[in-house]
Amino acid sequence: MKMCDIAVYGLGVMGSSLAKNMISHGYTVAAYSKSGTERQRFSAEGHNDTVCSTAEEMVASLKSPRCIFLMITAGKPVDMVLEELAPLLQPGDVVMDGGNSYYKDTQRRLAWCEERGICYLGVGVSGGERGALEGPSMMAGGSLEGWEKAGGILQTIAAHAEGIPCCAYIAPGGAGHFVKMVHNGMEYAILQLIAESYHYMRFGLELSRDETLRCFEQWKREGLDSYLIDISITVLKKMDEDGSPLVEKILDVAEQKGTGKWTLLESIEREVYIPTIYEAVSARNFSRKKKLRSQGCRQLYSSGKPARLEQAPETLGNALLLGIILSYSQGMELIVKASEMEQWNIDTAVLADVWRDGCIIRSRLLGEIRQAEISSERPLLLDEIFSYIKELEPALRIVNESAVEAGIALPGLASALHYYDYYRMEQMPVNFIQALRDCFGAHTYRRKDMEGVFHTKWETDERI
Ligand code: 6PG
Repeated sequence: MKMCDIAVYGLGVMGSSLAKNMISHGYTVAAYSKSGTERQRFSAEGHNDTVCSTAEEMVASLKSPRCIFLMITAGKPVDMVLEELAPLLQPGDVVMDGGNSYYKDTQRRLAWCEERGICYLGVGVSGGERGALEGPSMMAGGSLEGWEKAGGILQTIAAHAEGIPCCAYIAPGGAGHFVKMVHNGMEYAILQLIAESYHYMRFGLELSRDETLRCFEQWKREGLDSYLIDISITVLKKMDEDGSPLVEKILDVAEQKGTGKWTLLESIEREVYIPTIYEAVSARNFSRKKKLRSQGCRQLYSSGKPARLEQAPETLGNALLLGIILSYSQGMELIVKASEMEQWNIDTAVLADVWRDGCIIRSRLLGEIRQAEISSERPLLLDEIFSYIKELEPALRIVNESAVEAGIALPGLASALHYYDYYRMEQMPVNFIQALRDCFGAHTYRRKDMEGVFHTKWETDERI
């Protein structure tokens, strides 16, 4: 029997698509799933020879060093599969986890594997079913030795942008899954901004579906070219059987699997301000209050007038573009901070290369982000290449003003403006907070005009 180059463990939608992608690139694949149904389906799709009936058979059919790519549900199943595989493997074999695993779990598993001589990689995979089949974006982290052994296969099957593979080794530890988590946080933010723009056009400005669609098509031509705008156009074009837009029949209650929430928790832990990602996660959470929103609408709603916005397509398009740039900026800030704290030394240009194609947040903007020199001293929005955002600023302000006047919540766009405005505020109001803290609790404060730490007896204006 011919020994295989790589195994794919897990033959759900993503696993089977990745396995087919590997096969189409000439690799010999040992495919396995615990689920008999998945194994049968994959066999029936013309891959009978590649399917193994047991994990033992899968491992035995691999060349050495053995490379195994797990594409299974994140969480406990990954630990269970590692327990199952470890006794079957040799030191130097490589196990890769391609699920949306929590990066701290990846770090723990990496240490566990290291003790057993197994090279472990946490690989963030983006692009959905189609990406997996035709070329995903992949962010690898963990064992460098493992990357040197298996990275070539991953880079071959990944998407490519201008000849550069959208797959790279990001850093040690859980860095691959960390950056995938933040990728998802940015994905949440951009989805929220697009949804708000759609909603404002349809239900604030009362544009027709056709007019709304034309705006998206215009934005795509004028700077907003991206995968998420492309699929927004696809969604807007889809009609239900009765000829009405399908999107308007979809219940306004959003689901999520948790990567956005993890991104927020990390931002709090690492003290990075990512308000647009926060609003995007919160909007999905708040959407679950469907009944209360109906009640609130009856009790609190008053205006029946449509919102007003001059030159709506251009203004809203510019506001959306700026909101998206600021979302990338927030995500990059979190990555840069984590990279410093964890000593990952992540190169943001490499990240931009990895995200330029194949992933959900791919867009024309990533070409610009690639050229930016991002660091803790220079967030993306302050890089020279984005100096044009000053010209977009009035649009974001006008859209927010118009939405406030109309009483329509656009928290994603509002939070993007807050993020922008914070960076413009040389003086923040927190001097007043410092004074109050010192007044009620003697917490002390520092001064602009003198070195040192001060406390004041505020009631008597006596300083000590
Ligand atoms: C990707 C996506 C993917 C994730 C979806 C759904 O990069 O291909 O991020 O990994 O499954 O984004 O996430 P939610 O269900 O949390 O929206």
